[in-house]
Amino acid sequence: MENEKKKIALSLIQPSGTITLGNYLGAIRNWVTMQEEFNCIFALADLHTITVRQEPAKMRKNILDAYASILACGIDVEKSLFFIQSHVSSHAELAWLLNCYTQFGELSRMTQFKDKSAKHADNINAGLFTYPSLMAADILLYQADCVPVGADQLQHLELTRDIANRFNGLYGNVFKVPEAYIPKNGARVMSLQDPTRKMSKSDENANGCVHLLDPPEVIMKKFKRAITDSEACVRYAEGKDGINNLMDIYGAVTGLTHEQIEKDFEGKGYGDFKVAVGEAVVETLRPIKAEYEKLIADKAYLEECYRKSDDIAQKISQRTLTKAKKKIGFVL
Ligand code: TYM
Repeated sequence: MENEKKKIALSLIQPSGTITLGNYLGAIRNWVTMQEEFNCIFALADLHTITVRQEPAKMRKNILDAYASILACGIDVEKSLFFIQSHVSSHAELAWLLNCYTQFGELSRMTQFKDKSAKHADNINAGLFTYPSLMAADILLYQADCVPVGADQLQHLELTRDIANRFNGLYGNVFKVPEAYIPKNGARVMSLQDPTRKMSKSDENANGCVHLLDPPEVIMKKFKRAITDSEACVRYAEGKDGINNLMDIYGAVTGLTHEQIEKDFEGKGYGDFKVAVGEAVVETLRPIKAEYEKLIADKAYLEECYRKSDDIAQKISQRTLTKAKKKIGFVL
């Protein structure tokens, strides 16, 4: 955070289970490369995870695992902030304020709310509904210029922009209106078992989702079982969702274009292609897994990293929070 002139990139991830290949390709990988060009602010969105019921001991483990995994991917706390959302009280506080500037109709249109309430019909809590206001607070507190996320978060980001513009319209320039940063490759990694749905930690079919910490043999097995089609020709085309997804994943980890992949696999069957994709993913994840094993064994180091970032995040975010409260009319 030493160069104040750089633009600010900010993003969070829910530590609600182990990190997936979708999270990595859609978001974290870009976070790592953006650290040179931007002042980066990253965090674990643990407050967001309790919109779905969590088991306390498992939640604590998931948070530390996610923290270590993301450091292992290459987030460097000497260059970037990487804190834990619940340790920085301004997030929950601004979220409340923004709730009062967010319309019921807007929240009702969020597809993630509709999906999650269908999935957890026994627990459609108010937090699940107002989740986007908390996400808006996460972003707006830090005057972020740019938010690197996968394509599934675009709707939430649009709402954040609407909330910021509405607030600024009432009170003057309080919040920076952020832009989304969606990667060219890997923005929408789909389930290996149902390639019409995004790859997700909560995939009912365990073979649909590759986790960052899966052992190599498990990753290979998941790719070998990936759903494809009956054409047996590696080409990118409408209606070939399974193969398209594998080509996207392969392209994202090797840097090859669809045309190059089609050429390389001309005359070869899906079996060969699936093995190639699996191996490329295993090799991409191998150093991350090794680094994770080292980091997770050193809880004191992890704590040192997040405490340092927590404190700085608290200071930066308080500035915006105080400004917003003053504009609204609170006595400070
Ligand atoms: P979350 O935790 O579901 O996902 C974290 C990041 O990973 C991306 N992602 C994917 N990208 C490509 N393909 C996939 N299958 C895939 N699955 C997940 C997501 O787009 C995201 O970038 N609401 C957010 C967390 C959040 C946040 C924020 C993000 C809270 N506050 C402020 C940005 C800014 C979420 O649930 O992401």
